[in-house]
Amino acid sequence: MSLVLVIGATRGLGAELIKRYANNSSTQKVSGTTRSDHGPTDFPENVKWLTGIDLTNEEAAVSIVTQLKGVNSIDTVIITAGHFSTEDFTSGKGPNWSEEVKMYTTSSIAPVFLIHKLVHANLLVAGSKIVLVSSEAGSIGLRHEKEGGGNYAHHASKAALNMVGKLLSLDLKDRGIIVSIVHPGFMRTDMTAGVGYDKYWDAGGAVTPDVAAKSLVEWINRLTLDRSGEYWAPRGPGDIGTAESVLGKNLSTPLQLPW
Ligand SMILES: NC(=O)c1ccc[n+]([C@@H]2O[C@H](COP(=O)([O-])OP(=O)(O)OC[C@H]3O[C@@H](n4cnc5c(N)ncnc54)[C@H](OP(=O)(O)O)[C@@H]3O)[C@@H](O)[C@H]2O)c1
Ligand SMILES: *[C@@H]1O[C@H](CO)[C@@H](O)[C@H](O)[C@H]1NC(C)=O
Ligand SMILES: *[C@@H]1O[C@H](CO)[C@@H](O)[C@H](O)[C@H]1NC(C)=O
Ligand SMILES: *[C@@H]1O[C@H](CO)[C@@H](O)[C@H](O)[C@H]1NC(C)=O
Ligand SMILES: *[C@@H]1O[C@H](CO)[C@@H](O)[C@H](O)[C@H]1NC(C)=O
Repeated sequence: MSLVLVIGATRGLGAELIKRYANNSSTQKVSGTTRSDHGPTDFPENVKWLTGIDLTNEEAAVSIVTQLKGVNSIDTVIITAGHFSTEDFTSGKGPNWSEEVKMYTTSSIAPVFLIHKLVHANLLVAGSKIVLVSSEAGSIGLRHEKEGGGNYAHHASKAALNMVGKLLSLDLKDRGIIVSIVHPGFMRTDMTAGVGYDKYWDAGGAVTPDVAAKSLVEWINRLTLDRSGEYWAPRGPGDIGTAESVLGKNLSTPLQLPW
């Protein structure tokens, strides 16, 4: 096994994941993607950047495979790139078409194309792990009057990603490829600050992304094929606002989430 690949590695969770893998001598190679035409600074020198990768572009998957020339196989691919803009159904402003297209494309369309190309380039093989960074927001079961409606495309595009992950696990089981769908935790990142959720950081138990990255890497290290296609919160219920209302008290960590 040779490579850990992080899709969307410039900021937030992706940046902390790639730094963590790059700093571990048992990782042979680490690659991250950026939308820019050059890699960012302030990252370990052993990170190889795949440039010009925008998941809203149909050619992104082909470009990733092309830029991976010389790689034999991928140990772990983590798709963490994401976009969040809020939507309020109750105001006259309503949803925004281009924002919705961006969220669905990034979350739930691009991953199918990328994994298809990686599998058919023989880069994902028996024992390879695919980690799809979803959100508890994508759980229909966890939606509850306590938090109300809204945020249609953000939540529904993660629900669609959950379905994508389940279907991929079925298609890839015979090849021995593991698929894990995760809620990484509520994090203090640009994403949540960008939609004004920084006001919930303290009460909601938000952690810095390095903390979430540590939990996720430990989760990934323990993944086995019998857990493929499942949807989990490695950090447990603590930052999931509706968990107790829906699932009851005394929940375990890690927590398997309802679809
Ligand atoms: N933050 C939370 O509390 C939270 C909770 C649950 C789930 N999640 C999920 O965790 C993941 C990471 O979130 P985060 O908070 O780390 O986000 P973030 O800080 O906003 O970082 C997002 C990353 O995705 C990249 N990206 C965005 N759109 C892209 C596109 N079209 N093509 C390629 N790359 C793109 C960004 O690249 P640029 O630098 O080029 O913009 C950046 O590296 C997301 O999938 C998010 O939905 C987050
Ligand atoms: C890298 O790993 C070493 C040893 O495991 C640790 O002491 C150091 O703090 C780590 N550096 C970063 C940036 O995580
Ligand atoms: C480095 O990676 C190996 C294999 O994935 C893992 O067992 C080990 O715990 C990691 N070390 C650190 C310091 O994270
Ligand atoms: C929708 O969002 C886009 C940015 O993605 C913005 O350019 C546009 O003005 C917005 N449309 C409306 C009607 O607000
Ligand atoms: C909480 O769960 C643990 C195991 O998950 C169990 O041992 C314990 O008895 C439970 N406590 C209560 C109060 O239900």
